[in-house]
Amino acid sequence: MSPTTQALRVVQEGAFEPAFLTSDPGLSRQLAQLWKIARADAPFLITGPTGTGKSLLARDAHEASRRAGRPFVVVDCPSLPADLAESILFGHEKGAFTGADAKKLGLLATADGGTVLLDELADLPLGIQAKLLRVIQEKVFRRVSANDEEQLDVRFIGATNKDLAGMVQQGSFRLDLYHRLCTWTLSLPPLAARPGDIRLLAAAHLRKQGLVLENELTPEAIAALQGHDWPGNVRELENVLNAALALRDGPKVEASDLRFQRSKEYPVLHLPDQIAIGTPLGIRAGDNFHAAQKLLVEATYRACGDNYSAAARCLGVTRSTVRRILGV
Ligand SMILES: Nc1ncnc2c1ncn2[C@@H]1O[C@H](COP(=O)(O)OP(=O)(O)OP(=O)(O)O)[C@@H](O)[C@H]1O
Ligand SMILES: [Mg+2]
Repeated sequence: MSPTTQALRVVQEGAFEPAFLTSDPGLSRQLAQLWKIARADAPFLITGPTGTGKSLLARDAHEASRRAGRPFVVVDCPSLPADLAESILFGHEKGAFTGADAKKLGLLATADGGTVLLDELADLPLGIQAKLLRVIQEKVFRRVSANDEEQLDVRFIGATNKDLAGMVQQGSFRLDLYHRLCTWTLSLPPLAARPGDIRLLAAAHLRKQGLVLENELTPEAIAALQGHDWPGNVRELENVLNAALALRDGPKVEASDLRFQRSKEYPVLHLPDQIAIGTPLGIRAGDNFHAAQKLLVEATYRACGDNYSAAARCLGVTRSTVRRILGV
C-alpha cells in the first residue's frame, strides 16, 4: 500500500517557490530552518494567532519536502465529531456500526505517501489522541472493527493558535502526543510585530489581482495600513483590501475607505488617574506597536499596585493577556 521511498520525489534545494512571504529577519531565519526540517520526515508544529499563515505554511512545507506531488490532506480537527472521529480518520469495515453498509477508506489512508495537516490541533477529540499517537510512532493503524493493522506512510504537521502546553496541564491534551509533535515548533509572530511585512503582503495581495499597490492606494491609506494593529493578521489585511478596492468612490483607495476589524482585545481604556493625566510611558518615535503596548501595560500594572486583575480591568483585557504582554 505504501509507496517505496524511491517513489517519493527528491526535491532539489531551491526548486520550489514558497507562497508564504516575509521580509522579517527573525521569521526568515525560522523559515530557513523550516525548509530543512521539511525535508526530514519527523512531525512538527506550527503555532501562531489566527490568520498568520499557519495553514499556508504547512502546505509550503509539504511542497518543500520529498513528499511534494503526493497528497496533502487537511484534517480540520474541530469538525471531527468525537463519536465518529475514529471511523473518519481510520476508516471502517462493513457492518462496523449501524449505517456502515460498506467498507470505507479513512482520511489518513487517502494521504498515503503524502502529508497530513492536523489543523486546529487543540480541538482533536481526546478519545482519538492515543490512537493517533500510535499512527505517528508506529506507522500502523486499524480500521474500526478490522482484525488486521495496516501500514501508513504519512508525515504529520500540526497547526494551532491555542496554548497546547496549557491544555496539557489542564488534562485536555495528551502529554505524549504533545511531545511527539513538538519535536520542533515554528511560532508565527502576529502581523503587527513585523511591521515591514504589512506593505509587502498588501502589495503581494494586489499583485495577485494584477494591481500595483501604489497605483490603487493613496500614501495616506498605505500609512493607515501600517499603523493598524491587525488583530485578524494577514487574513484581515486581505479582507480590508478587498473591501476597500470594491467600495472606493474615487480612483484610489483613501484612508477613510479602509474598514478595519474591531479588535476584541482593545476596548475602551479606564486608566488610573496617574497614567490618564499624563505619566510619560517612555514610548519613543520608531517604537513598534508591541513595544508601546508593553510600556502601557507595565505602567498600568505598576499604577494598580502590581495587581494583574486590576490592571486587566483598567485595560479592558483579560488577566492572562496582561501576563502574556508582560512576559510572565
Ligand atoms: N506570509 C504570508 N504570505 C502570503 N500570504 C499569507 C501569509 N500569511 C497569511 N497569508 C494569507 O492570509 C490568509 C490566512 O492564512 P492562513 O489561513 O494560512 O492562516 P492561519 O494561521 O491558518 O489562520 P487560522 O488560525 O484562522 O486557521 C490566507 O489567504 C493566506 O494565503
Ligand atoms: Mg488555518
